[in-house]
This record gives sequence, structure tokens and C-alpha cells, in this order.
Amino acid sequence: MRLSSRLPQGFEPNALSAALARLRAEGRDILDLTASNPTRCGFRYPEAEIRAALSGPAVLAYDPDPQGSRAAREAIAAHHGCGLRPEDLLLTASTSEGYGLLFKLLGDPGDEVLVPSPSYPLFDWLARLEGLTARAVPSYFHDRWHLDLGALEAAAGPRTRAIVVVNPNNPTGHFLSKTEWAGLTDLCARRGLALLVDEVFADYALEAPADRLPTALADASPPCPVFLLSGLSKVAALPQVKLGWIAVRGPGAAGHLEALAFLADQYLSVSAPVQAAASTLLALAPAIRQQVQARLRINLAALDAALAHHLHLTRLPVEGGWSVLLRRPAVDADEACTLRLLEETATLAHPGSFFDLPGDGHLVLSLLTPEQTFHDGLLRIFPCL
Ligand SMILES: Cc1ncc(COP(=O)(O)O)c(C=O)c1O
Repeated sequence: MRLSSRLPQGFEPNALSAALARLRAEGRDILDLTASNPTRCGFRYPEAEIRAALSGPAVLAYDPDPQGSRAAREAIAAHHGCGLRPEDLLLTASTSEGYGLLFKLLGDPGDEVLVPSPSYPLFDWLARLEGLTARAVPSYFHDRWHLDLGALEAAAGPRTRAIVVVNPNNPTGHFLSKTEWAGLTDLCARRGLALLVDEVFADYALEAPADRLPTALADASPPCPVFLLSGLSKVAALPQVKLGWIAVRGPGAAGHLEALAFLADQYLSVSAPVQAAASTLLALAPAIRQQVQARLRINLAALDAALAHHLHLTRLPVEGGWSVLLRRPAVDADEACTLRLLEETATLAHPGSFFDLPGDGHLVLSLLTPEQTFHDGLLRIFPCL
């Protein structure tokens, strides 16, 4: 039997994952500098409150609403502010599911979406599984990252349906500037495109410039349809709860929400306990985020202290998010370098190529990594770079 051509040809792990699995099977203790699962990074969660929120009376009641429960949407609207109303929101089980719904909403098989790169590597598959193509349009770095609006305009063809940006970006940390937002929404309006803005990391500004766009919701009436995605994975560092959402703004918003609700109605995938817990979990979120924010700052300071002793290595500014880009002399390919580090120092870093960074000379580290591991890992890899 033939499987869909939307799937990969094979499911072999890449060389780095294969080497990691082999070393772990051999019992090697690996220092993971890519740790991005907050539930495994040593944060103190308000455990009793989270358990209680997820086991209230609503666990036994089923009152499905394809947009998601009104109470949960009210809590999410209040979290965002910016005049967002509960009726502007639709709940999903994750942002990944949100992308699936939006790609179904916006495209026909063969259509494409443009993605300023580097960016979140899942877009290729999320688009492809809906019959669409995600086309990368390189951004460029000059003191800070910049979208290439001219290249985006040139890349927009008759089958382009949307542009997908991450604000702040993963892994570059780039926040859109207000000028970029104006250019992007103008381009989308002129070319009849939707603008998808993933703001899962919006609460994690670090070295953010003053002219940044803190959130796309700051624009109350954008000239193009805007779909903002976020969720508890990052807002409350609770990826296991599985709650995401889409906020809809701009021309045609009411009709877009109606169509999204039709799509969501075919799945009704957000569980009742999660919806019932949403307002409590959002109330608990700031205290959890504070720990994450402190970790990001401490690790960044540790990195700067280590860099001071290795002048051939530098880092790029971290405007926001959970990652940092380390620059090294490109004496070998990034993937070969991370394999070498893993084999020689039992330390895991990600190559820039995993995120479409241009050329070689970038490693991606997670600032979420527990402090001691981060510190020890840097000590191990720096002499080898
Ligand atoms: C840009 C971006 N969007 C979304 C997600 C994941 O969100 P979810 O768990 O809601 O699918 C991630 C996770 O790393 C991410 O980096």
C-alpha cells in the first residue's frame, strides 16, 4: 500500500540524533545545552494548584464550543489585553494544531506560505502535511536581524497565501520593529495575503530594542488579516497541558473566525479539564515565567563571562526568546562541529543549519538549560571551538 506523498520518504533520525541515542545507550552522561522542555529544567511549579485546577467538577461535564469555552477565552483575552475580546479567539490543543487549522483555512493544495528564515523548523512539515509549501525567504543580520521586505515582496507569487513570522523569533530572538510591522502589513494588504504571527515567546523579552513591536495586538486595526498564535507551552511553561489559541484581527475577521470554528468543530480537540483550568493556569503563569526569565538572564551572563576568555567566539544579541546564537570560526560545517562536540565532550548543541541559518559558524544553545549544566557545558565545548 502506498502512503501519502505528503509524508517523508523515510523516518531515519539525523546524524546528530543517531549519535546522541548511541552515546546514551552506551551510558554516557550527556550535558544537553539544547534543553527546551521546561518541565525537565528544574523549575518549581505550583504543583498543588495545577493539580487542583485540572481536576475540578468540569472534568465530568461536556459542553463543547468549537471556539473553546467562553471562560477560557475571557482569561486569554485578559492575559493579552490590547482590546482583545473573547469572541476574537479560538482555542486549540497546541500552536501546531493552530497552524494546521490556519493552513487549511487559507490554502489549497499547491499553494505556498512565505517564512522569513531562520525560523522555527516545524513550518516545513506543518505546511506540507496540509498540502502547502513553506518557502524560506532569508532575513539578514546587520547589527541586529532584519526582515528582507523586498525579498518577501519578490517571492510573493500567484499561489502565495500568507506570510508566517515569529515574534520574537526562534532561534534568532528577533522582535519585529514597528517599521517592519508597518511594511509587512502593508505588503500583505497589497498582495491579498494573510499574516500569521507566532508570539509564543512574547513574554520573554531580554535585550529588546525600544522600537520593537511587543505584540501584533498593539495594532488594533491592521490593513490585512492577522492571525496571532500563542499558548500555554511558553506563556505558562506548561507544554504538557496542551492549550494553544489563535486571535483573529483585521479585514474579514468575523468570517475567518466562523470558518475556523467550522474547522475546529470537526476535531473539538481541547479537553474540558484543560479549558476549565485555563484561567487558573494563566493566573499562576507570571510566577512560573519569573523563574524562566531569571534563568535566561543568569545563563546569558554566564555565557558572556565565558566568552570574555575566548575572544574568537561571540554571540548575537538576544532580543527575546529562549535561545542564543553562538558564533564560532567556521573551520568545519556546523553539523560536523556539533557531532564532534558530542563525541569528544559529551555535550549537545544544535547546529545553525537545523534552523536554516545561512552558511556555517553558528551554534544554537538553549538558555533554559539548568544553570550548572549550562556552565559546565560551556567549559567543555569552548576549548574545542
Ligand atoms: C516558535 C514556536 N511556536 C510554537 C512552539 C510550540 O508550541 P506548541 O507546544 O503550542 O505547539 C514552539 C516550541 O518550541 C516554538 O518555538
